[in-house]
Amino acid sequence: MAYETPPDDAFLADFRSLSTIGATAGGGVDRQAATPVDGQSRTWFRGLMEGHGFDVHYDEVGNQFALLQLVPGAPYLVLGSHLDSQPLGGRFDGAYGVLAGAHAALRLAGRLAAEGRTPALNIAVANWFNEEGCRFKPSMMGSSVFTGKLPAEQALQTTDPHGVTVQQALEDIGTHGDFTLDIACYAEIHIEQGRSLEDAGLTIGLVESTWGANKYEFVVHGEQAHTGATVIADRHDALLGASSLVVAAREIAEQHSTDDHMVITSCGEFTVFPNSPVVVASQVKLLVDVRSTDADVLAAADAELHRRIADIEQRADVRIERGAEHIWDAKAYDQAGMELAAASADELGLSHGTVRTLAGHDSTNLKDIVPTIMLFVPSVEGISHNERELTSDEDMLDGVRMLTEVAGRVLAGEFVR
Ligand code: GLV
Ligand code: MN
Ligand code: MN
Repeated sequence: MAYETPPDDAFLADFRSLSTIGATAGGGVDRQAATPVDGQSRTWFRGLMEGHGFDVHYDEVGNQFALLQLVPGAPYLVLGSHLDSQPLGGRFDGAYGVLAGAHAALRLAGRLAAEGRTPALNIAVANWFNEEGCRFKPSMMGSSVFTGKLPAEQALQTTDPHGVTVQQALEDIGTHGDFTLDIACYAEIHIEQGRSLEDAGLTIGLVESTWGANKYEFVVHGEQAHTGATVIADRHDALLGASSLVVAAREIAEQHSTDDHMVITSCGEFTVFPNSPVVVASQVKLLVDVRSTDADVLAAADAELHRRIADIEQRADVRIERGAEHIWDAKAYDQAGMELAAASADELGLSHGTVRTLAGHDSTNLKDIVPTIMLFVPSVEGISHNERELTSDEDMLDGVRMLTEVAGRVLAGEFVR
């Protein structure tokens, strides 16, 4: 279990090695869930952890757990995040957290062995399946199943755009199992994916709560026609209806944001059928998400979106069907965890401040079942879901030190509800 290189150099070398898996020309990675490349990153992670004496297992939805038993029979402190990425994603989103978790666990294991101490908990590092939700919707799929928010059978039967099920894809890369994990506490570190830490000159963000998010899949139904020969009055243009919905979402963000509570809306996915030059679209599938820090502000924006749908249906003469939804609340992280994290940062002399997370993370789910701590390190210019995503080596290493300190305190039994 000993390092052959200094721990910081070992972390940076491992991060560089992980970043070569699915590397893109623009400096990012493309490792969509349960693709062969995601399989390679899982094999790489397995090799790393087994090489340090951990046992690696997969659960029923392909969550990957590297376990180190320090106290037989005790439940686990789990450190984790995700190794899957968006198409042309950055190399830090998720991967940093899994590797920081791995190195924090290795440092603590070494320290405990050297000091001959027995902790209160065992330690595991998790690579949650399909956090990104791009190939298979919804996002945070593995942690949603693990926390009982999504039935495993429903997740396993979900198909990608080519009709491949999650179950098939997981079996194809050999990472479908039946392991179950007895979890006591969870901690995750992630890049901020926003600008607030960088703007404030802080190294560590202590995440106090999530934003609320309402994501909806819509199908706009029109009728296929000739773009030239069909007079406007006869059209049922699905693309016009879908585009109006995209514009409405942006207007709602502008109109419903208040000084205290911002509203953020997006359409991230938009598929046009049959998508041919001289054809009025018969159907468009799109995903709209609406987010806010405040439940009432979010509810008002959401109600406005649904009111606007009725107007758009009338004006574009189309039918808009609402399909699956993925919703999470604006909700606080554990206060005792925030205090433990603040004390840890003070102990290490790391500057810190509280932040809220706009993005969803696996901890969004985990915090609802076990005491959970969520930490951020800065993202240069807040760039994320982009090949240019960047966090400096110095900030990554400070984050590993921070997670190690936090996890050490949790292992010693400081964080119990
Ligand atoms: C993550 O799933 C997000 O939507 O922020
Ligand atoms: Mn992420
Ligand atoms: Mn992401």
